[in-house]
Amino acid sequence: MEWSRIAVFASGQGSNFAALVQAQRENRLGGGQIELLVSDKPEALVARRAEEAGIPALLLRPKDFAGREQYEAAIVAELQRRNIGLVVLAGYMRLISPVLLAPYAGRIINIHPSLLPAFAGKDAIGQALEYGVKLTGVTVHFVDGGMDTGPVIAQRSVEVNPGDTAESLAERIHQVEYALYPEVVAAMAASKVKLNGRMATLGD
Ligand code: GRF
Repeated sequence: MEWSRIAVFASGQGSNFAALVQAQRENRLGGGQIELLVSDKPEALVARRAEEAGIPALLLRPKDFAGREQYEAAIVAELQRRNIGLVVLAGYMRLISPVLLAPYAGRIINIHPSLLPAFAGKDAIGQALEYGVKLTGVTVHFVDGGMDTGPVIAQRSVEVNPGDTAESLAERIHQVEYALYPEVVAAMAASKVKLNGRMATLGD
């Protein structure tokens, strides 16, 4: 497996996928190459984006498989066939099972639109507004078997303004995501991220 060979997993819009593709074009991905898009929603916009960018896509519907294990086994086979060394989740709306976690231990990362461990799970931006926090942000973390529970790699804060709506706050959070994720993916692709217990460091 090569760290620089990347698969991006996404279920929806794919604006982070697009930001990563753009970063690769601008040589901001640490030598990383996006070799594959994996989506559980063949009709999602992200699939069209991959096609337009000329990136191969593995589009599998989980319900076409006997269970989650079989669905993930099909994904792992394709990742291994392509010698993928880094799995980047970007709005992939499923928990990952040991079938994928075990062969890719320490090689799967996710981006989440809050400062974890606050507001894990769905609708993190809505949760933050509802709670009334003044500061939220973006977290990039390693993926483990839980919901947004893996070790944190990087975080960036975003202020909540008086009068913010879910849309206005999401817009500012997304802009931070588009800058932060390529930076972290670049460090991962260059295998510059070290993990000691739960403490991740980005270094040489
Ligand atoms: C992002 O906000 C990301 O943090 C979360 O899902 C959203 C995906 O958006 N995990 P997009 O599909 O990249 O536009």
